[in-house]
Amino acid sequence: MEPERRTLNTIKYHTHLLVSIPPIPGVGDLVLQHGELLRQELSDGNLQWLCYLSSTSVYGHCGGELVDEDYPARPSSELAKMSIVAEKGWLNLAHDLGLSAQVFRLGGIYGPGRSAVDTIVKQKPLSEGQKMRASRQFTSRVHVEDIGQSLKAAIFMPSSGKIYNIVDDDPAPREEVFRYALELIERKWPGYIDHEAACSMAKPCEQKGILRRDKRVSNARVKKELGLRLLHPSYKSGLQSIIDQMDTPVCYNREFKPNR
Ligand SMILES: NC(=O)c1ccc[n+]([C@@H]2O[C@H](COP(=O)([O-])OP(=O)(O)OC[C@H]3O[C@@H](n4cnc5c(N)ncnc54)[C@H](OP(=O)(O)O)[C@@H]3O)[C@@H](O)[C@H]2O)c1
Repeated sequence: MEPERRTLNTIKYHTHLLVSIPPIPGVGDLVLQHGELLRQELSDGNLQWLCYLSSTSVYGHCGGELVDEDYPARPSSELAKMSIVAEKGWLNLAHDLGLSAQVFRLGGIYGPGRSAVDTIVKQKPLSEGQKMRASRQFTSRVHVEDIGQSLKAAIFMPSSGKIYNIVDDDPAPREEVFRYALELIERKWPGYIDHEAACSMAKPCEQKGILRRDKRVSNARVKKELGLRLLHPSYKSGLQSIIDQMDTPVCYNREFKPNR
């Protein structure tokens, strides 16, 4: 099925295009499937700048190494393999259209409404992906505000296909992050959370060979070339700012009666 004319015109008559749709398992990049049509339609439009949001998962298994953008990408999951293909596809399209282009390889995104604090407060069982990530020694993450700042910086820095890792300075294990989130919650809302249940969320599950998947992702390039100064260099300030913005956790699955 071809994209709607309205959508094509929206892209064509704007100057900046941020691609944030992840690849679809079994399909690939939904938009790049129409690459030839995009080349024809966008060649005489207003588009000047393009950024594709990819993932640090493209590096694959790295045995705990420090990984910068020149590290060979050896994706292992289907999604990561599709992300690498999509990165190349978008950079080629941008090249053919003469656009400034970059790829952002993002760590795990967190922010208000999507964080360890939210997961604990919601008290829902962990998804399979969350259980798997719980076993990693290092997990790179980035606060959504720092993605925003990086995008703004990239708009003012023309690039013909640069790749940037967008992660914070502190690739901490998920278990540590959950323990910290729990401390913040118990300090702010004493008695709200079932402590034992919350602790079990943080526990890593037993999985063999997990170290192979570990990596510490370097953000040196984005700091040097785009001048990024992280608002949240660590999950600690990121989670603190999230909980500071939360009034009460009543919006979730039960009424909150403060234990005072
Ligand atoms: N989440 C992470 O921790 C993480 C980590 C690394 C990289 N990334 C990358 O960062 C980007 C944003 O991630 P995200 O988790 O926020 O992704 P998401 O929630 O799955 O979706 C982001 C955007 O893509 C749109 N979208 C998703 N599937 C679509 C489909 N089949 N057709 C049309 N639009 C579709 C969504 O539209 P609706 O709003 O209409 O649903 C939304 O605007 C993605 O490219 C992802 O690969 C994410």
